[in-house]
Amino acid sequence: MLKEIGSEYWLSEVPEQKSANQLPLCFEKWPNLTLTSSGRGAICLAIESVKNKIPKTALLPAYCCESMILPFEKHGFTISFYDINSKLEADIDSIQAQTRKDIGIFVHLGYFGFETNHELGSLLEKLKASGTFILEDVTHTLLSNFKRNELNDFYIASIRKWIGIPGGGFVSSKEKHTYKLEKVTEFSIIRQNALIKKSEYIKTWNESLKSEFLDLFKRAEDILDNDPQAYKIDSASETILHNTNFKELIEKRRRNYSYLSETIQNNKNIKCIFPELPAGICPLFLPVYSDNRDKLQKYLIENKVFAPIHWPKPTKVDPKKNPGCENIRNNIISIPIDQRYSLAEMDKIAYIINKFKIEN
Ligand SMILES: Cc1ncc(COP(=O)(O)O)c(C=O)c1O
Repeated sequence: MLKEIGSEYWLSEVPEQKSANQLPLCFEKWPNLTLTSSGRGAICLAIESVKNKIPKTALLPAYCCESMILPFEKHGFTISFYDINSKLEADIDSIQAQTRKDIGIFVHLGYFGFETNHELGSLLEKLKASGTFILEDVTHTLLSNFKRNELNDFYIASIRKWIGIPGGGFVSSKEKHTYKLEKVTEFSIIRQNALIKKSEYIKTWNESLKSEFLDLFKRAEDILDNDPQAYKIDSASETILHNTNFKELIEKRRRNYSYLSETIQNNKNIKCIFPELPAGICPLFLPVYSDNRDKLQKYLIENKVFAPIHWPKPTKVDPKKNPGCENIRNNIISIPIDQRYSLAEMDKIAYIINKFKIEN
């Protein structure tokens, strides 16, 4: 069993050049797909292919991360936000209240693997009729198998949230667009070094390596924050995508999720946002609410379980205008259930979380 659970993935070796040209089956459903080095780069490409046809305005969910907003800011868009409710579904009234304005691009997404954006049907029709482009961010639902709305013009994803790859994102679209991506960015090169160093750490538990890989990961993020434009995916990441057994990955995530959610379901300190795992859903994390979230996160870290918070409030979001998301942001925590772990690690997490109840 691994003595640390969660946080960044690792990469034990840089793979040799890919032999096949086809992407794994689970990527085939995304039409006209172009791989990029990041999700931000993919959003930039979508924006650039329509920006001359639309007003520079975008409507995004208020529960989102800073990096989804950045490409719109860089392209000079005015951004508004709609609310998301505690089940992580889009608040229809909050969207409707804003459809009076001209919206150039509307962004929607399902969270943590679940189809929480399924109620949008007629609203998307209305938006489409007024010339809005619809972009679904499938970062969280990348490996979930549910029918996507036919009115979507673009799909974008950040792939590195799922596996240990230096870089990876894609833009896909109903219409064919041609993008010229030449250079590989330094971001991917530095992240590759970080992933390899983390792998050395996992093999040796040599504490001095920790600050080295953490520093490299941070440097890579800083590069991307300063330059979110689209770059070509690096060849190591592309090869890893070709070689990854996604079927196995999905099965492991589903098994871990079901096991852990059932094991902690009676714990009064936490509430699973999605207690059931429907067929076809591949979870990113196991998101739960806790009234003592910050204490719980600290306690988990002390016990070497690294559970991230998705996400801190983006600077552009005004809690007075979008009060619905404040509760999510203050109480949510994402428990790792990914393919690196077996049920032994899930047992460990459950044991630690259940002890939290006794000690606090
Ligand atoms: C939902 C979502 N979309 C897009 C992005 C941007 O992806 P990247 O970090 O690869 O630029 C992120 C990053 O966290 C994300 O969480």
